[in-house]
Amino acid sequence: MPAIVLVGPMGVGKSTVGRLLADHLGVGYRDTDDDIVAAQGRTIAEIFVDEGESAFRALEKAAVRAALAGHDGVLALGGGAVLDEETRALLAGHRVVYLSMEVEEAVKRTGLNVARPLLAVNPRKQWRELMEARRHLYEQVAVAMVATDGRTPEEVTQSVLDAL
Ligand code: S3P
Repeated sequence: MPAIVLVGPMGVGKSTVGRLLADHLGVGYRDTDDDIVAAQGRTIAEIFVDEGESAFRALEKAAVRAALAGHDGVLALGGGAVLDEETRALLAGHRVVYLSMEVEEAVKRTGLNVARPLLAVNPRKQWRELMEARRHLYEQVAVAMVATDGRTPEEVTQSVLDAL
């Protein structure tokens, strides 16, 4: 079972904070997006374009299941992993921490990053919709929430450790 599972929107800093947490705890770091890319030999954007979002979510569910069973360190999930009901059920009983940020912080951090397929058209509007659709799902699976707005990865890391 992972020591900590990080959830939250893309760009919130799950991988940066996840690596800092892993270093601090002396454990490994793993990311389900990386697992999917390695297994598929394609980027996430290519999977979205080739097969669509629902095919990606199925791959993601399998990746989450495998990582929860096979990893003892810090695990970061893709920002949309919580959309899938079965994936949310898999998270029950785990130490899940929700890294949160406000819409304006999200636009500032990732608004121009067209490599993220869900944000290509109108970043601010899409961010607002994503946050509205997902916030309660992050809250549902998490045992703790840490706000990241205007804070450094080191500060966020310390807050995660304090929260657990
Ligand atoms: C997604 C987030 C991404 C990646 C994919 C879809 C989402 O992960 O899984 O592009 O739906 O929010 P990160 O949160 O690691 O960027």
